[in-house]
Amino acid sequence: MVLTALVLLISIACGSARLVDSIHAINESSYDFVVVGAGTAGNVLVNRLTANPNVSVLVIESGENDDGVEGLIVPFLAPDNLSNTSLIWNYTTVPQTALDNRTLAYQRGRVLGGSSSINFMFYTRGPRADFDRFANFSGDEGWSWDSVFPFMLEDEDLVPPVDGHDTAGEFNPAVHGTSGPIQTTLTGTSFPTDSLILQTTSVNSTAFPFNIDVNSGDPLGISWVQTDTGGGIRHSSAVGYLHPVLTRVNLEVIANAHVTRLLNIKSRQEPDMRGVAFYSRSGFVVYARKEVILAAGAINTPQLLMLSGIGPSAELESLGITPVIDSPAVGQHMQDHPLFAVVWSSPNSSFTLDASLRNTTFVADALEEWVTSKTGLFSGVGTNLFGWFRFPPSSNIFSEFKDPAAGPTAPHVEIIFNALQNQFRSFAQPIPDKGSYLTATLAVSSPASRGSVKLTSSNPFTFPAIDPGFLTHPYDLAAMIEAIHIADDFFSQSPWADLQLLPFGAFANATTDDLLASMIRSEVTTFWHPCCTARMGANSDSSAVVDSNLLVKGVNGLRVVDASVMASLTAHLQAPVYAIAERGAALVKLAWDI
Ligand SMILES: Cc1cc2nc3c(=O)[nH]c(=O)nc-3n(C[C@H](O)[C@H](O)[C@H](O)COP(=O)(O)OP(=O)(O)OC[C@H]3O[C@@H](n4cnc5c(N)ncnc54)[C@H](O)[C@@H]3O)c2cc1C
Ligand SMILES: *[C@@H]1O[C@H](CO)[C@@H](O)[C@H](O)[C@H]1NC(C)=O
Ligand SMILES: *[C@@H]1O[C@H](CO)[C@@H](O)[C@H](O)[C@H]1NC(C)=O
Ligand SMILES: *[C@@H]1O[C@H](CO)[C@@H](O)[C@H](O)[C@H]1NC(C)=O
Ligand SMILES: *[C@@H]1O[C@H](CO)[C@@H](O)[C@H](O)[C@H]1NC(C)=O
Ligand SMILES: *[C@@H]1O[C@H](CO)[C@@H](O)[C@H](O)[C@H]1NC(C)=O
Ligand SMILES: *[C@@H]1O[C@H](CO)[C@@H](O)[C@H](O)[C@H]1NC(C)=O
Ligand SMILES: *[C@@H]1O[C@H](CO)[C@@H](O)[C@H](O)[C@H]1NC(C)=O
Ligand SMILES: *[C@@H]1O[C@H](CO)[C@@H](O)[C@H](O)[C@H]1NC(C)=O
Ligand SMILES: *[C@@H]1O[C@H](CO)[C@@H](O)[C@H](O)[C@H]1NC(C)=O
Ligand SMILES: *[C@@H]1O[C@H](CO)[C@@H](O)[C@H](O)[C@H]1NC(C)=O
Ligand SMILES: *[C@@H]1O[C@H](CO)[C@@H](O)[C@H](O)[C@H]1NC(C)=O
Repeated sequence: MVLTALVLLISIACGSARLVDSIHAINESSYDFVVVGAGTAGNVLVNRLTANPNVSVLVIESGENDDGVEGLIVPFLAPDNLSNTSLIWNYTTVPQTALDNRTLAYQRGRVLGGSSSINFMFYTRGPRADFDRFANFSGDEGWSWDSVFPFMLEDEDLVPPVDGHDTAGEFNPAVHGTSGPIQTTLTGTSFPTDSLILQTTSVNSTAFPFNIDVNSGDPLGISWVQTDTGGGIRHSSAVGYLHPVLTRVNLEVIANAHVTRLLNIKSRQEPDMRGVAFYSRSGFVVYARKEVILAAGAINTPQLLMLSGIGPSAELESLGITPVIDSPAVGQHMQDHPLFAVVWSSPNSSFTLDASLRNTTFVADALEEWVTSKTGLFSGVGTNLFGWFRFPPSSNIFSEFKDPAAGPTAPHVEIIFNALQNQFRSFAQPIPDKGSYLTATLAVSSPASRGSVKLTSSNPFTFPAIDPGFLTHPYDLAAMIEAIHIADDFFSQSPWADLQLLPFGAFANATTDDLLASMIRSEVTTFWHPCCTARMGANSDSSAVVDSNLLVKGVNGLRVVDASVMASLTAHLQAPVYAIAERGAALVKLAWDI
């Protein structure tokens, strides 16, 4: 083990001049806590731990400062606008065997705030049953919905929508936080389809019930979306948790610095992983007096564990990495939501924004409105209403498959009724230059497929092999077909009659389930929700990487707090990650009596 004298880094002034203004260069060789990754989860730890002035924290982030970065400014445009910039990890999956061997772009945030700086900003906590499954899986009631719920409130500050509309009946204030760092909101623009979606919930509340609040623990039905766009701007973890505390003298943030591995600082006895090697123009080492907290996300956390010798020993040895402990589950059990879209065309342009969105003056005006007042089309996420559904009793899918959903209140599928993309949204076809369209974006909520993250090299800068395993379990394909049927039923309800909707494009030709299946295989993409690659579990469970306190099993001084530790997939991940990180911070404080 490398136990070299430390290199001190006063001169590091890391990469970008902008950083020096707000984030001072590191000045110590050891800190109480070293957090790896200033992403969604990492910044929660940083904020909560440095609230105690006696605790020193260094956070090391591979990406740059997000503050003022042009490509991040218009929140809704960021995910699409960043695909070829240094602000993302431009990962690609391995060929997906159940998707005609296609490879998929698999971007993650690589900037302060991590993926919360570049995502679509939906704020969804998921169903009660999913957290209760975490508790069951880890054997720790502390992960049940009821135990995690107070932490969910801690991250949130629900603020009125930017258009100031009356939100009575659109959410339940009793299930929201009002003093946390992340400003959430209902969206502040209306779309022509909103009233039709709501009418559908009243003409057929059996199949399509209205649900007043998607974040109560019961997400079933159709709800108004809640997003982290309070005041019309993106509230990433950097905006909410990190920038406001940069003045704390017990915190240091180093950006443009890439952690290459953790070092075992005890050559005998139980391994102790409190050394952190990182690269920022040259190599450095720092030490944690209390803990290293890995928060590098569901791809990079297992990669770093394996680079550090914690993983499947035989695989690590074959790459020339000396194992520290054999932990076969590192990188395994990966889950992500398969995402798919179906499109209908309408001869009636009164309900869709396609014509407006083709009008460059309209779009420029809308952008200008956002720039000047943070209102209008670009203040939101392009969607106002969405739904989570269980398969109807008429479906016979469970005569063939075991139900992978966590319980009778957990959804099978999610349908987003894209309004901004009433306009067309397809993952396969270009946007047509004429016509009016409705799109249903569909996801399988509890997929049965599992994938993996594996090292391909001992070089920390080589991307790992990412295999979400999309649709490798036949349930997921069957579930996606059912999702299409539910969306089709939805748009067949009476409120949609005037639109005279017709299936469009490849969907028009897919007149049988077999044809739908091949369309799905040729178009499914990622919802960017990887998780579970260092999952939590009971101490006796060798398929778990961390225990229920999120400590890495078999070593000392190392905790994981990010989407990797989830026992199974739930919701869109950022709100669950905030809740896990808030509880993670509480566990750290408890462990060290701070
Ligand atoms: C395009 C896109 C859209 C999405 N839309 C939504 C949405 O609308 N709603 C929602 O809830 N979720 C959404 N998600 C998912 C959600 O944003 C993520 O699942 C969540 O933010 C992950 O949090 P994390 O803390 O686990 O990882 P991240 O936030 O990704 O943080 C990991 C951090 O660690 C840093 N890092 C990694 N490796 C190293 C290293 N070796 N050294 C130093 N630093 C390192 C990374 O650069 C990054 O900053 C979306 C994701 C994407 C990519
Ligand atoms: C910080 O440490 C000092 C000295 O040990 C102690 O008096 C003080 O209470 C501590 N503060 C906090 C917030 O723990
Ligand atoms: C898109 O990104 C580029 C470069 O990152 C930036 O210059 C541009 O302003 C961004 N556009 C929008 C609309 O955010
Ligand atoms: C990505 O950016 C590089 C250099 O900035 C450029 O050469 C390349 O064409 C771009 N690729 C895409 C797909 O935009
Ligand atoms: C990722 O981006 C880098 C430069 O930022 C480029 O060299 C590389 O080709 C890109 N890889 C993929 C898979 O797009
Ligand atoms: C996918 O690739 C594998 C391995 O190369 C091959 O055996 C298989 O036939 C391919 N499948 C399709 C649908 O192309
Ligand atoms: C999880 O639930 C199952 C089924 O009720 C039960 O058999 C199992 O013991 C539970 N596991 C834990 C760790 O509580
Ligand atoms: C870094 O150095 C400054 C100036 O000496 C000091 O005030 C600060 O507490 C140090 N930071 C940490 C985290 O030790
Ligand atoms: C479009 O819908 C509107 C509103 O329901 C209706 O008045 C109009 O007749 C429809 N037009 C067409 C062409 O169907
Ligand atoms: C384009 O949008 C502008 C601004 O909303 C509007 O004034 C104009 O009439 C639109 N043009 C067309 C062809 O619809
Ligand atoms: C509600 O929709 C479902 C699915 O299309 C259908 O079976 C049912 O008959 C509808 N109920 C009413 C009252 O329209
Ligand atoms: C639909 O099928 C017809 C007849 O086979 C074919 O000409 C057309 O290209 C198909 N359309 C799409 C979008 O696949």
